[in-house]
Amino acid sequence: MKLAFEDHGSGKPVILLHAFPLSRKMWQPQIEALTTKNYRFVLPDLRGFGESHNFSDLNSMEDMAKDIVELLDALKIEKAIIGGLSMGGYVTFEMLRLIPEKFAALLLCDTSFYADTDEKREARFDLIEKIEKNGTQPLIEEMLPNLIGNFTKQNNQILKEQLEKSFSETNPKSAVAALRGMAQRRDNSSVLDAVFMPTVLIFGKEDEITNLETAEKMHQRISNSQIVLIENAGHYSNLEQPRQFNAALVDFLEEVNV
Ligand code: MLT
Repeated sequence: MKLAFEDHGSGKPVILLHAFPLSRKMWQPQIEALTTKNYRFVLPDLRGFGESHNFSDLNSMEDMAKDIVELLDALKIEKAIIGGLSMGGYVTFEMLRLIPEKFAALLLCDTSFYADTDEKREARFDLIEKIEKNGTQPLIEEMLPNLIGNFTKQNNQILKEQLEKSFSETNPKSAVAALRGMAQRRDNSSVLDAVFMPTVLIFGKEDEITNLETAEKMHQRISNSQIVLIENAGHYSNLEQPRQFNAALVDFLEEVNV
């Protein structure tokens, strides 16, 4: 399907895929700080989110990845630095299966190559039931507190409120469709072992959703990888500590040739 997207700047193409249940707007702190540099940022809304309206019952990570492949073709982007945060990372793994040759470099933030455990899958199905009954409120009450780190909870009320607002604006049907897609996503170990391109792993030090042990495992398995831990940040590291995140991102982007 055709996606809504933003296209900023010119230079090395960088494709950034957002987390659940957000939209391309989550990259605002990066765009504001980095568009003056030599990069072209392409920021899509994954299907069902932001302005990419979609009413399916199930949106798989693979479907989302195919949409991005279509977008790259439409924009005639041959090679790019591609990556995402959390669900955006799950979609990135599917893109690595579909179009490995288009990756000049890889960016994996607060994400995981594992499939859901049975326990996690059950928790998603519980959440789906609650969303079907009560709309997006359960996302705010049950999911958000586990996503942001303690530092953010104690010191950044503005971000907490902005996230509550974004969560409440998510289409409940699309949230359910993506939760189903994440619940049935596959294990990506084999994909990791075939990654030889320059890779950066950026993780919030307080991320309890896709934790540091997973980050360390990915670091060990990808030969050409570096890992950067963001202090005082949970799962939404780019939003919780944009300055540290942007510094890590620029250090990496500067090194990579496209
Ligand atoms: C996300 O941030 O995209 C989600 O928390 C990912 C997940 O629920 O596995």
